[in-house]
Order: sequence, then structure tokens, then C-alpha cells
Amino acid sequence: MIDMHSHILPNMDDGSDSVETTHKMLQMLRQQGVTTVAATPHFYAYKDNPEDFLRRREESLARDTWELSLLPGAEVAYFDGMSRCRELKELQIGDTGLLLVEMPFGKWTGRMMEELIRIPMEQGLTPLLAHVERYRSQLPKFLAELSGQQVAMQCNAEAFLSAGTRGWALSMVKKGYVQFLGTDTHNLTDRAPRYDEAVRVIEKKLGTEIAQRITNLV
Ligand SMILES: [Fe+2]
Repeated sequence: MIDMHSHILPNMDDGSDSVETTHKMLQMLRQQGVTTVAATPHFYAYKDNPEDFLRRREESLARDTWELSLLPGAEVAYFDGMSRCRELKELQIGDTGLLLVEMPFGKWTGRMMEELIRIPMEQGLTPLLAHVERYRSQLPKFLAELSGQQVAMQCNAEAFLSAGTRGWALSMVKKGYVQFLGTDTHNLTDRAPRYDEAVRVIEKKLGTEIAQRITNLV
């Protein structure tokens, strides 16, 4: 099983603050049945230089040997012109062709959708929209536009555990809009990984076949 969204790399962003914390987070994920973790530190084009970011990510990954397989990636905050960014390919999750994109919390526009849709054409990458449950008030308006396109979506484990989002997240999985599960874990306390709890909810409500699909790459 793969966790498609995590802030597990030590000292990269507001996630893990040390090698020890990363080990503990990975141990939790392993106990929850996860075998592969996409390491997706925040990337902000307005302040992160891609070369610096990639060097820091490499150093962070190399700080120890890890108990689970880690795929280097990034959670790339949406920016205008991203479809033409030269370094975008290097920010994909491993060599999956999936690029985790954090959309703005403010109002989305048609222009943003056009930019997303251009990413597969310009870069051969599939934008994977992070934690779409956070956009549940405005995402439905854009679903028709996005659904025929090469765009994937991810929900956080918490979306399946909180009463306010559970029904919505399950229906998005059931309809096939959401294809990936991530913990978006940042630490060992208020944002510790809860992967297995989410899987149990999905299994119970939607069956094992769908649970298997959302927890694996293929
Ligand atoms: Fe995140």
C-alpha cells in the first residue's frame, strides 16, 4: 500500500523536524500496512529555487536509511505558468508521472483549470490534486471540465474519518474521481498518520476492491 502524500522528510518543510521523528512516522506507517511512501515536501515557486529544493531533498533523503521505500516528490503549490516550468518533471512522485499539486484555497478560475489541463500536454505529467476534500465547496463546479482530462485526485486519510467530510470523500471515490489516498502526515501528534483507519472505512463502505485500488499505484 502506498501513502501518496506526506511531509516525512526530515527538516524539509513544516513536516518532520528530525531524523528520529521521520523514523517514528515511518514505523507508524509500516504498522498500518504501508510499504511505500511518497515524500512530498511543500514546494512554493515564489520562494523555492528548484535546484536548491532538489539538492535539499536529496540531502534529506540521504540522511539515513529508511525502513520503508520512499519516493521523492513534492507538493507543488499551484502557480501560473507551471505547465511550462522546466524543472516540473523533477518534482513528480518517483517516476510515476504524477505531480502532486496543491490548489489555492481561494476561488478557482477557468484559467487555473486550463493551466492544469496543459500540464499533461506540455510535460507528460498527470496533475494529482492534493486533499481535494478541502475544496469540496467549489470542486463540483469544475468536475465536468476536469473529468474528461488527464487529472487525478487525492484525499487525505482524515477526510474518511471526520463526520463532516466522510460522505463526500466516499462518494468521490465511488464515482472514480478520487484515485489515491494520502496521510499528509506532518508529525507524531496532531498530524500523525492514520492510513489504516481510513482504509477500514473505505473497505467497510465501498468494499475491498475499491479499497485496494485507492491504496495502490496500479
Ligand atoms: Fe501536504
